[in-house]
Amino acid sequence: MTDEREITLTVNGTEHTIEVEPRRLLVHAIREDLDMTGTHIGCDTGNCGACTVLRDGEPIKSCMMFATQADGSEIMTVEGMEDLPEAGEELHPLQEGFHEEHGLQCGYCTPGMLMSGKALLDENPDPDEGEIRDAISGNLCRCTGYQNIVKSIEYAAEELAAQPATDGGTAAVEPGSSVEAAADGPETAGDADGPTATDDADDSEPFEGYDVGGEFSCGAENCCGGPSTDAEHDGGDNV
Ligand code: FES
Ligand code: FES
Repeated sequence: MTDEREITLTVNGTEHTIEVEPRRLLVHAIREDLDMTGTHIGCDTGNCGACTVLRDGEPIKSCMMFATQADGSEIMTVEGMEDLPEAGEELHPLQEGFHEEHGLQCGYCTPGMLMSGKALLDENPDPDEGEIRDAISGNLCRCTGYQNIVKSIEYAAEELAAQPATDGGTAAVEPGSSVEAAADGPETAGDADGPTATDDADDSEPFEGYDVGGEFSCGAENCCGGPSTDAEHDGGDNV
């Protein structure tokens, strides 16, 4: 006899009551019982971050929690992003950023990256590059080299800062902050004098971009920045 328990999850603002076995993982409840397949499964062992969702506002790896442990929780998945007030009538600025800055290739890691990016910007609206890299250190991407993911989150931070504040004004921008500096377009991080990913491709000789003050660049427009050598990209846990 299967011992099932009744649990209630509020997912993207809608309350669901389902019956699950005690061993049912939260990610399987989301994908299979609630039919929300935007949350991906990459490893089922807590390493890849593809299954990242927000639970009561905190990013968690939903393959590392039993559904019964989440009983009574507010869950947010990637499907809920475009319904948020800051999304306006189209995509959420984070989703727009990944589109505009080429922050994805196969897209498998993207839902988890979006959730980790959202948790970061909710807590810290103007993160620097290191803070962004730290926030996504539990999310693995085997395609992009991470550089454009960082730029996508920077793009979202700028867009969100430019949105009208609730008092009818515009959000304050600190003089000299990265948000203000970004008005001229995001640069390749850490190399103010070097070529940027948005440089005119006509300016680039083949492989000329290798000489960028120690940072990798293949010289192509929208170069992903190459494989990361940062120690923080070792699959750290953000649970
Ligand atoms: Fe959850 Fe990989 S599927 S961390
Ligand atoms: Fe393919 Fe990240 S875009 S794993």
